[in-house]
Amino acid sequence: MSGAVLDGAATGEGDAAGDAATGESDVEGGTGAPVLAVSSLEKSFGDVVAVDDVTFQLAPAGSMAIVGESGSGKTTIAKMIVGLERPTAGSIVACGRDRSRPARSATQRRARGREVQIVFQDPYTSLDPRQTVEQALDEVVRLHHRLEPSTRRARVRALTELVGLDARQARALPRGLSGGQRQRVAIARALAAEPRILILDEAVAALDVSIQAQVLNLLADIREETGVSYVLISHDLAVVRQLTEETIVMRHGKVVERGATSRVLDAPQDPYTRLLLESVPRPGWRPARHLKARPETQKNGSAAADSVVGAPAAGRAAAATATATGTTAGSKGGGDT
Ligand SMILES: Nc1ncnc2c1ncn2[C@@H]1O[C@H](COP(=O)(O)OP(=O)(O)O)[C@@H](O)[C@H]1O
Ligand SMILES: [Mg+2]
Repeated sequence: MSGAVLDGAATGEGDAAGDAATGESDVEGGTGAPVLAVSSLEKSFGDVVAVDDVTFQLAPAGSMAIVGESGSGKTTIAKMIVGLERPTAGSIVACGRDRSRPARSATQRRARGREVQIVFQDPYTSLDPRQTVEQALDEVVRLHHRLEPSTRRARVRALTELVGLDARQARALPRGLSGGQRQRVAIARALAAEPRILILDEAVAALDVSIQAQVLNLLADIREETGVSYVLISHDLAVVRQLTEETIVMRHGKVVERGATSRVLDAPQDPYTRLLLESVPRPGWRPARHLKARPETQKNGSAAADSVVGAPAAGRAAAATATATGTTAGSKGGGDT
């Protein structure tokens, strides 16, 4: 993470200088290199400093949570990593390539898409209203992988099944799906690219309890199989605990605390982290595993939570509180199918 390495990245992104396939050159090749290195990252919107000197690294097959109150800069970091916002200062190196600057060509964009995918809280806007689920997934599979049509169809079917959508839903348009179902389409679509880094920005917390468990288990399995790395932005500390090894805590654009997820959640050092853990809303608190244990609650919860797009569902707050007060097991890797 020396200046020399970063300068190399900055100068390497010429179509002439880079490798033939992407026009981008490798910055650091060898094994042991982080899959993502964010250094002294800053973003200002006018007078607002949304992200202020943020540095972190993510190992291959690593998983990191970003937590912090609303407006602390979490989404802005995610957008800069994926290339939707341009940093005011600092650098982002993903898979050995500098991403602080816009992609120069469609080929570069495609290569970057295979490296980093993101799923936002409300995927409605990112799904084409005229495309069925199958078509949306097929498009991504086709873009990133050269496959026989039959193999492609099988892959699309496998992806829909992985995220728990049935054949009818696979042929539906986004408007024919609930919020939770659309969220699952967005996750399947991100996975279809087989990225090295997957960013989930409040993308799993609004799912109903049983589907959320299924998706979290799926994500854990995929990490084991493929070595994909996760950046998870979530209010739901039970989800943070289940899916991530490391956590950074953001406040006013700055990292105020970082460390192993269990340490940060169980023994927070920074007063702000303590406040954050204590101030998690607790209406209708019920630990997630209790919900899971009762089929009728699960069914009702499913209908309710699934229809909410992007809203911080009660279940989310409940799970977070459960963790904050130490009453949920929330063991990593999760065995709660
Ligand atoms: N496009 C934008 N224009 C102006 N201000 C923005 C923009 N995006 C984010 N901000 C501001 O940057 C800060 C961080 O926002 P954000 O990254 O969305 O926080 P979080 O995801 O943690 O809730 C907030 O003050 C927000 O209002
Ligand atoms: Mg956000």
